[in-house]
Amino acid sequence: MPESSEIALFLHILSMLVLVGSIVAVILLLALMRRATDVRDVRQFVRIASVADKFGPAAIVGVVLTGLWMIEDVGFEWDAGWINVSLLTVLVASVASGLVVTRKLAAISAATEEPAAGAPTQVLRVQLTDPVLLGTAHTTLAVVIAIIWNMTTKPGDAQAGTVVLLALVAGAGSAFPMVARRQRILEDRPRSDAS
Ligand code: HEM
Repeated sequence: MPESSEIALFLHILSMLVLVGSIVAVILLLALMRRATDVRDVRQFVRIASVADKFGPAAIVGVVLTGLWMIEDVGFEWDAGWINVSLLTVLVASVASGLVVTRKLAAISAATEEPAAGAPTQVLRVQLTDPVLLGTAHTTLAVVIAIIWNMTTKPGDAQAGTVVLLALVAGAGSAFPMVARRQRILEDRPRSDAS
C-alpha cells in the first residue's frame, strides 16, 4: 500500500497539472480571441476561457492542502525558504489572478454581447490587448514554474525568493509588446504602420 505522503504527492502533482492547464488554456484562448475576426468567435472563446479559469481556485486549494499534509506527514521544516516563499507566492498570485484575470474575462464576455455579430468593436479589441491582463496571466504561469523549481530543488529563502522575483520580471516584461499593440488599436492604425 502506498504511504499517505505518497498519495498526497500524487494529488499535489495532479492539482498542479490542473492549475497549469487552466492558466495555459486561458493564455491560448486570449491569443485566439485577439485573432478572431468575428465577435461570435470571441464570445465562444471567452466562455471556454471563463470555464478554464474556474479550475484555478480549485487546483490552488488542492495544491495547498496536499502541500500542508506532506509538511506535517513527512516533517519538513516550516521555516524552509522553498516552503514559506512558495506558500506566500501561491496565495498572492491567486488573489492577483482572481482580481485581474477573472474580472477582466467577465468584462470581455459582457463586451461580446453587443453587437451580436460582425467585427469585434474597438472597445473589445482594446480589452483583448490589455497589457495588465496579459501580464498577469503570463506572470501567474511564470510564478508557477518558479515554484516547481523551488519544490524540486528545495532552496533557502534567498534563492527561493530570487527565482520568484525573476518570474515576476519575466511575466511583467512579456506584456510590453501589448502596450504598443493596444496603442495602435486606440489610434486605429493598421499593424504594418508599427515602427
Ligand atoms: C503552484 C504551486 C505549487 C506547485 C506547482 C508545486 C509543485 C510541486 C512539485 C512538482 C513537487 C514534487 C517535487 C519532488 O518530488 O521533487 C512538489 C512537492 C511538494 N510540495 Fe509543492 N507545489 C506548489 C505549492 C506548494 C505549497 C503551497 C506547499 C506548502 C504548503 C507545497 C509543499 C510541497 C511539499 C511538502 C512537497 C514534497 C516534497 C518532497 O517530498 O520532496 N507545495 N510540489
